[in-house]
Amino acid sequence: MTLLNWDLWGSALSTVPLAALLLIYVTLLPRNSKSSRILPLVDIQDAIVPLSLRVVVVLVAALCVQTVYFGFPRSCIVPTLSLGMAKALSWYFTTQTAQHASWCTVTAIGTFSITSTRNPFTFTSDTHALSHVIASFLALGQIIYMLPKHAKMRSILWGFMLVSLMPYLANLYAVSFQQSSAPDFDYSRQHPVDALMEKAKNDFQRLSQKQSQTYKDAYAEYRRRYSAEPPPGFEAWYQFAASHQSPIIDDFDLIYDTISPFWKISGKEVLAIMGDAQRAPGGELWLCGFSGDSAKTQCSHPSRTDDRHVKLLFDTLSEDLRGTIPDLSFLVSHLDEPRVLIPRPSLGEKKVDSGHFNLTNLSHQPVWDAITKYCPPQTIPSAAKTKRKIETFGLPFVTDLHKAMDLCQHPQYSQMHGLFISPPTFRLIEGLVPILSTGATSTMGDILFPSPAYMEEGFQYDKTHDVEWDDKRNNLYWAGSTTGGFASGDQWRNYHRQRFVELGQNLGVQKHYYLRQRGHIVDRAESPFLNGRSFDVAFSRIFGCQAQACRDQKAYFNSKAWADKDRALQSRLVFDLDGNGISGRYYKLLASKSVPLKQTVLREWHDDRLVPWFHYIPISQGMREVPELVFYLTSTEAGQQRAKEIAEQGRDWFSKAFRQVDMTIYVYRLLLELARLQDPERKAS
Ligand SMILES: *[C@@H]1O[C@H](CO)[C@@H](O)[C@H](O)[C@H]1NC(C)=O
Repeated sequence: MTLLNWDLWGSALSTVPLAALLLIYVTLLPRNSKSSRILPLVDIQDAIVPLSLRVVVVLVAALCVQTVYFGFPRSCIVPTLSLGMAKALSWYFTTQTAQHASWCTVTAIGTFSITSTRNPFTFTSDTHALSHVIASFLALGQIIYMLPKHAKMRSILWGFMLVSLMPYLANLYAVSFQQSSAPDFDYSRQHPVDALMEKAKNDFQRLSQKQSQTYKDAYAEYRRRYSAEPPPGFEAWYQFAASHQSPIIDDFDLIYDTISPFWKISGKEVLAIMGDAQRAPGGELWLCGFSGDSAKTQCSHPSRTDDRHVKLLFDTLSEDLRGTIPDLSFLVSHLDEPRVLIPRPSLGEKKVDSGHFNLTNLSHQPVWDAITKYCPPQTIPSAAKTKRKIETFGLPFVTDLHKAMDLCQHPQYSQMHGLFISPPTFRLIEGLVPILSTGATSTMGDILFPSPAYMEEGFQYDKTHDVEWDDKRNNLYWAGSTTGGFASGDQWRNYHRQRFVELGQNLGVQKHYYLRQRGHIVDRAESPFLNGRSFDVAFSRIFGCQAQACRDQKAYFNSKAWADKDRALQSRLVFDLDGNGISGRYYKLLASKSVPLKQTVLREWHDDRLVPWFHYIPISQGMREVPELVFYLTSTEAGQQRAKEIAEQGRDWFSKAFRQVDMTIYVYRLLLELARLQDPERKAS
């Protein structure tokens, strides 16, 4: 019901409640038995008492039905009663006005009350806010014009203009006050964003320049990093990667990190346990066979037929790899969520029991304790003192991504992410079972492969749908659904997506932190203000919840009826965060001319080749830094320049390091490692 963002379909749908209301009133109105008209002529004075009694009866009945279906209402009694009183009074005065003037005045009053009472702080654009002020002005004029000429003090009604004008001016003032109180950063003192970007630039230079240039170097580097021989076929892999100008030759640590724990069991044991796991009821695993000669993959599942494009992904990526990789088989998880917890031998035991695994169904249940049970009892604060510390003025800018993603160092994450509180599906496999997943937390042992979602059509970047930086809206955009946690009760308030939308819409009682200057000291200051113009954030679909939790969320959040998948590209800053698993839209954002702000607890295959603060902006789980970050990037000249730089660097790197052949190079190397892992001749080490 607001100007500028109405759509035809939505407006058409709004006739349904209108018709229903009409029907109810016609049914409830006391009838004059002589009249046979369908729409009775009403004398409101006579009808009001019986009508209101009947309305009360209907409301009580509706309340009972609602209570049976959703449980007791959650709203507090005092606001509800005052709202009811206000409604009753408004009806009283409406009928009075209608009697002394005309019913047309009543509609104008309706228009005025809608347009003048929207909170200007929540609007995502200036035009939007201003249009409401203008519309309320026009409606007020119309009301005054339509009142009878003899009405006393008509012109005093113009005073009602303040209802919309005051909040609007207060909003303008708050925006400009924020602007003027931003500290001056100069060369001696940097904004944390600048400092982090400077460091990231060095990190990226190191990453891109130190890669091996010859096979000999690549071989030596493998041995240096992992104290092990590379797998058979490594030389051909190197030639393939080099001939396709792979910008990354050595940095495949994630492959090593996720594969090497399985070296503890022999090749024969690997093959046996894979078969057992796939046959386990409710295991939700695809067993895929890769044929070296044809480079084709065939996958099978005990009960499913739709493999969510797993075969397509491997077939597409390995098209040019005929005859380079031995035949092998591997397990792929059907689910979005990570699967594997690798047991650590407890004290006293020498070796974990390797032939067995436990499969537990933890869907809709808290999984935190299960997936962090092998964390070291006390995390020793890392000796990062030698590194230059970046001054963040107490705001949690992500200065060390590795640490920020380590669950063991952050027990508070247990109540901050849908995956940990109530995952829609979760089948935990505890044991040495090599399983390929698209994303996994720091504590889990899934082997990572590029998500087939990245190849889906809806997630492809299309440059004709992108716009130039200067034409983009200067704000942060996100729209999506409530995926990421199954909601029952009040738990949803802690889920990652809900917390983010709550922040972006400035709902709830929140304090925000900004950097302010007092004298010569820059410090963080608290403020309830969040500039709504800088955030365009909403749910476009609320689902995955029990009836009551769905209703509560629909009441709590402002949601959109629908959102175009490429709408994000109209904004300079685009947010991206986990759903049930990894977010498939990430590559579109990375490839675009916008800058992605990325929050995740999941590691992905590409982590070794992305540099935070150089290719994208990492966001902490608590998001306390987001108000200042968005303010800096949208409202200061230096910040806007910084945002544009990251957008360009990410886009440029995407075209060099995220080509299809780059995924092929990763998968090629991964398959070589998997082939060695399951070689029946290989002994446990
Ligand atoms: C796993 O748990 C969920 C939620 O309790 C349930 O709906 C589902 O049927 C269970 N699946 C299996 C295979 O037991």
